[in-house]
Amino acid sequence: MDLVFATANRNKLIEAQKVFGPSFNLILPYDLGFCGDIPETHHTLLENSIEKVNFIWNNFHKNCFADDTGLEVDALNGAPGVYSARYAGETNNPADNIKKLLKELNNVPEDQRTARFRCVVSLIENGLLYTFEGVCEGHITMSESGIEGFGYDPVFKPSGMSKTMAEITLAEKNAISHRGKAMEKLLCHLSQNLK
Ligand code: IMP
Repeated sequence: MDLVFATANRNKLIEAQKVFGPSFNLILPYDLGFCGDIPETHHTLLENSIEKVNFIWNNFHKNCFADDTGLEVDALNGAPGVYSARYAGETNNPADNIKKLLKELNNVPEDQRTARFRCVVSLIENGLLYTFEGVCEGHITMSESGIEGFGYDPVFKPSGMSKTMAEITLAEKNAISHRGKAMEKLLCHLSQNLK
């Protein structure tokens, strides 16, 4: 089954391909000839993820899904949340975002650095809209560790783990991550419809 994943993030595509397996042919907007940025203009993860799938459906009329993810830090009253990508400025630079986050949490002790990744996945399937959510609880470490993954992974330690998300394998991340959980729900929905 062909399915467009409305993202320009190759890391997300690699994660999704691992979850979906060979039965699904995941296509990027780039493969449809669209090389720009898909608009993301809202103030909630849900609205942004819906905006992305609507964009693909309205322009290409293809079944598609999109995610929007935010990192919610309790000591920062839920920030950066929906603004996680551009936390340190419009360029969406992961190193700068991490630097700013660690600076903001400079005086916050380990037991008060609780946080979670929240991911909302939207799907448009034959014109109908569905949404799925996944959450991964954890905390923000004192410093960066690991080289796997992307974004805030080097400073996020999932609950019950002794490693950051940047120190575990892709399969381990997908099994516990916000997006892994949301995409499992999406896959379950699609598999039932295919039966
Ligand atoms: P978006 O969903 O692509 O808008 O991501 C928002 C921000 O969260 C970006 O800075 C991403 O790099 C970051 N982000 C999204 N998913 C993950 C993840 O699985 N691990 C770490 N950071 C992530």
